[in-house]
Amino acid sequence: MALSVANPSDFSTTWNTGDLASLLKGTDRPLPERFIYPEREGAASCEATLPTFDLSLLECGEEKKKLLPLVAEACAEWGFFQVVGHGVPKELLAEVMEAGYGFFSLPSHLKEKAAFGRTQGYEGTFAEHKSRAPWLEALTFTASSSAEHVASKVWPEHGNPAFCNAINTVNRSFVDLTRRITIILAESLGLGHDTFSCHFLSKKQSVRFNYYPPCPQPEMAYGVPAHTDPNCITILFQDEVGGLEIRAKDDTWVAVKPQSEALVINIGDSLEVWTNRKFRSVQHRVVLKKTQGRLSFGMFLVPNEVTVIEPPAHLIDKAHPPQFKPVTWEDYIDFMKAALMKGEPRPSFKDFASM
Ligand code: OGA
Ligand code: NI
Repeated sequence: MALSVANPSDFSTTWNTGDLASLLKGTDRPLPERFIYPEREGAASCEATLPTFDLSLLECGEEKKKLLPLVAEACAEWGFFQVVGHGVPKELLAEVMEAGYGFFSLPSHLKEKAAFGRTQGYEGTFAEHKSRAPWLEALTFTASSSAEHVASKVWPEHGNPAFCNAINTVNRSFVDLTRRITIILAESLGLGHDTFSCHFLSKKQSVRFNYYPPCPQPEMAYGVPAHTDPNCITILFQDEVGGLEIRAKDDTWVAVKPQSEALVINIGDSLEVWTNRKFRSVQHRVVLKKTQGRLSFGMFLVPNEVTVIEPPAHLIDKAHPPQFKPVTWEDYIDFMKAALMKGEPRPSFKDFASM
């Protein structure tokens, strides 16, 4: 049965929101078939520390001139970098992780009280993949599935003020951080500082926990299979377990070494389109561990629905003709929903914008 994005009530019949840890509990069953990716590519060839920048040095002074070209290079070569000196307190990041572990360790019947439909609230395995599912539980907060809404369902007596406070505070911090980073990215390309940053609305941004439970056969499954992010940039905070891998230019997979307090930034398809491919939206995936669960938390920055995503004139010349047609985020969402309704795979933003 095709997944209907317009009708979240389909959720209960078409989605297995089940919690993965309990799926196998008390049994010696092998991994259910839908979690097995037969064509799964091999392991990462090496582990690397991503180019890491101190955000405070990128925002002023002499160092900035030296560092901006290195940021542009990281975005062109890797599509990924890390920031430290970002000002998000480590205590806050610890509280966010605690809130996430607290939620995912609840029994599944409680977590499922926060299952509000596609890409909102709690999701177990993704029906979109039907015969194929990543080994992942997620909790997404949007304007209509706020931390308070989740807490009122899961902890009906008193909500959960510590949980809500951590999510709402980090949400505000990440919105501010995305503004600072999009300014730096524009400057690194020699563009006016607000070229990108004036096109985002805080209330449109969503944050998501990804929880990857321990997996009995990690070499057969994926936490998330290879994909690019459709949005502009993603900010990701991860625990120390590791599992994020990115596709290097030579097509091999490189494991990202977790670095405490660093935030991973990656370029999404919308920014690749917006920069006429000066920046690359690079494939990445998440691999699993047999004995350790892993938690990550991210913000996926999306532009205003009406902003026309097309490269600034400065990035176009004879040697660099336009690579994409001008599109809006809203056009993409409509196109994607229509494809999903027809039971087709989710189209990528890059393919949608291709000329
Ligand atoms: C994503 C993603 C990576 C991670 O959610 O799009 O790539 O490490 N997550 O959780
Ligand atoms: Ni991703």
